[in-house]
Amino acid sequence: MHWLDTFQDYLNRPLRERLTYYQKDGRISDIMVSQQFSLDFLQTIFDLTDQVREIEKTQKGAKFLTTLLHPKRGMLYFTQPSTRTFLSFTNAMQMVGLMVSEVRDPSLSSEIKGETIEDGLRVIGKYSDVIVMRTPQPGLSEYIAYLMKQWGEDILIINGGSGQDQHPTQALLDAYTIHQFFKERGGISGKKYGFVGDLWRGRAARSLVYLLSQFDNIEMFMVAPEKFQIGVDLQEHLEKFKIPVQTTTSLKEVLPVIDCLYMTRVQDEYDQLSESKQFDDSEFHLTPERVALMKQESMIMHPLPRRQEIDTAIDFDPRAKYWQQVSNGMYVRAALLLYLFQQEKELQAFSQ
Ligand code: CP
Repeated sequence: MHWLDTFQDYLNRPLRERLTYYQKDGRISDIMVSQQFSLDFLQTIFDLTDQVREIEKTQKGAKFLTTLLHPKRGMLYFTQPSTRTFLSFTNAMQMVGLMVSEVRDPSLSSEIKGETIEDGLRVIGKYSDVIVMRTPQPGLSEYIAYLMKQWGEDILIINGGSGQDQHPTQALLDAYTIHQFFKERGGISGKKYGFVGDLWRGRAARSLVYLLSQFDNIEMFMVAPEKFQIGVDLQEHLEKFKIPVQTTTSLKEVLPVIDCLYMTRVQDEYDQLSESKQFDDSEFHLTPERVALMKQESMIMHPLPRRQEIDTAIDFDPRAKYWQQVSNGMYVRAALLLYLFQQEKELQAFSQ
C-alpha cells in the first residue's frame, strides 16, 4: 500500500488519538498543531524562555547554551518563503548548539530528478535529529512525522507553517508575547481578543485561536469580510470550548472593547486567480485615527509580514507589540528545542 493511503487511514482517527502519536514518555516530541499545547506545557515554555533570555545575556551563559544540544543536527526544510521563522529557528538552533543545514529550493535538490518527497525527507532525516518544515501543503509535516515513526527513524519534526493550516510555533511566541504583556494585568484569561483580516487562510491566527480557546473567560471578535471569515472547523472548535465569539465586518465597533488586537494580511499567495489582490481591504487597516479608539492598556499584534494593515506611524505607539513578537520568536524557539531534547534540568542547574 502506498504511504499516503496508510496515512489517510491514520488521518481519519480523532485528533486526540493522533496527537498521542507525537508524544514520548508523556511529553510532546513532535510539533504539529497548537491543540497539542496544554496550559501546563505553555507555562513550561514561558518559564524556559525567560531562563534562556536571562542566561544568554552573559558570555558565560551564551557559551553554556551552545553546549546543550551539541553535536546534534538541525535541518530547516523550507520550501515556502519565510524570513522570521527561518531566521529565528536558525539562530535558536545555533544558540543551543545544534549544527544547522537547510533545504530551501527543492529545484536544487534531487526532487527535480524525480525523487519522491517521502524518499527526499527520509534522506534528509539521515543527517538530522530535528527537522523544521515550512511548506505550502497543509498537513505535510504531519505526514512526514508519521512516516518517520513508520520507518523507525528517531527524528523530531516541527511544523514551521503548513499551508493555510497551522503555524504552531508562531502561536507559542504569540502566547508568550501576550503573557509578557498581561503578566501584571491578570494574565491571558479574562481578556477580549480581536482577530482581523484573512481569518479563513491565515494559519498564524488559526493556531493562536486554537491555543487561546483553552483559557478561562475569554471572548473573541472575528473582524473580516465574509469571504475571509473563520471556517467551519474553527467555528465548531470555539463552540465546543464555549468561547463567546462575535463575527463582524466593523473594525471600528470592536476597537474600543478589545484588550488584544491581532492583525493579519490577506493571504493571496493561495489565490488561483489573484482575486484577493484586487480586493480593497482598507476597511480592515489600522490607522492612527483608529488606534485612538483603543484602550490605553491594550496591545496590537501582527505575525508579519505586513503590507498596509498597520500604518507604520503606529510602530511608535507603546501598544504596538509586533516587533516584540519578532524578537521573542528566537527565544521561544530555543526554549522549545531545549524542551524537546529534555534539557530543563541542565538549564535549571545553571541558573541556580
Ligand atoms: N510570521 C511568519 O511566519 O513570518 P515568515 O513567513 O517570515 O516566517
